[in-house]
Amino acid sequence: MNTITGVEFRPLVIPASVDAADAADFIAMVDVRNEIYREISGHGDEAITAAELLPHYRSSEHQIRNFWIVLQDDEVVGRIGVDIPLDEGSTSAIWIIELLRRTWSRGIGSAAYELVERTAQDSGRTVLQSWAEHPAAAGPRLAPPTGFGSIPEDHAARFYLRHGYTLEQVERSSAFDLTGSFAEVERLLSVAQAASGDYRVVQWFAPTPAEHVDGYAWMKSRMSTDTPTGAMEFAEEAWDAGRIAEHDARYTDVGRTLLVTAAQHVATGELCAFNELVIGNDRTEASHQEDTLVLKEHRGHKLGTLVKCAGLLAWRDVAPASPRVITYNAEENRPMLDINEAIGFAPIAYDGAWKKVLDV
Ligand SMILES: CC(C)(COP(=O)(O)OP(=O)(O)OC[C@H]1O[C@@H](n2cnc3c(N)ncnc32)[C@H](O)[C@@H]1OP(=O)(O)O)[C@@H](O)C(=O)NCCC(=O)NCCS
Repeated sequence: MNTITGVEFRPLVIPASVDAADAADFIAMVDVRNEIYREISGHGDEAITAAELLPHYRSSEHQIRNFWIVLQDDEVVGRIGVDIPLDEGSTSAIWIIELLRRTWSRGIGSAAYELVERTAQDSGRTVLQSWAEHPAAAGPRLAPPTGFGSIPEDHAARFYLRHGYTLEQVERSSAFDLTGSFAEVERLLSVAQAASGDYRVVQWFAPTPAEHVDGYAWMKSRMSTDTPTGAMEFAEEAWDAGRIAEHDARYTDVGRTLLVTAAQHVATGELCAFNELVIGNDRTEASHQEDTLVLKEHRGHKLGTLVKCAGLLAWRDVAPASPRVITYNAEENRPMLDINEAIGFAPIAYDGAWKKVLDV
């Protein structure tokens, strides 16, 4: 509860399905999520249906997810989320507070933040982390200690600062135009193939075929250790066949398509690099590139370019009506940005990664 008149923070019920009798709040949460992202970004590329989002909102043995909807005079105007990762050694809580613009600057965000901090503390977490888009704006800017990128000191940035947060990292989101020419992607794929003769491309749709489960699980675990995160803190994630099956089912159970493009070391059969592309049931919407990684010991053979280009070229047949692919990268991740820029990804927005360490 909070003390602002007419405002309620209601714990969100995660229904068994969107057709269940108790699904109304979840559906309203997704509607407000989509509307808030549209308000912030000016486009609908982050929109998703309630049915497609639902599997991602269930707690699991790897993460506890806590959500509330924010109601003002019984109308849903926002949402609050606090994730508690359960990976061994995790000290962090990851949170969001997202409100419709017309409700800003009335203290609702700050009241929600008290709930966030209390929830994190009740779970024994001391490292609080949060990400938000900071749309382009004039005026003073903030730069993170990584030395790469900056964001405008906007309403959300001031909110974080006032609650004791520091900006630790800037992330870039970029888009690749799927309606344009693929000539450069084809050329870069040939260059990458010429530089990676010991490797071959293997591709599959989720669910992951048995022969690739172990290799994919190892690469997924390295996403938590081998990507640039600045001073943001992540515990190492252990991935096994069960976690891969759970991950894949979040997409396949609701009819979404996940294509994994991997580079396999021919001599040993080891999977060494991968790239993921995702689209929902509506294949006229934007596609999303999720994880991309080259294992540390296999870097320097153009495997990043190989898997990205092979993935995009296959995607023409998978989702020919999707207008673009969106991807996220740390602004200091020059090797990855070099590949994306060469392929034709262009920046569309910047996110801040924010952190606060609580006194124990
Ligand atoms: C960031 C966000 C959560 C802040 O929520 P909010 O309700 O506007 O936050 P508050 O009202 O508590 O505080 C914001 C400002 O309102 C002022 N304020 C607080 N109570 C007030 C009141 N009763 N009357 C007038 N102003 C008030 C605060 O002093 C603060 O001023 P500042 O901008 O000069 O620092 C909200 O803008 C939002 O949802 N943004 C989009 C999503 C996002 O970026 N979320 C970030 C976390 S994931």
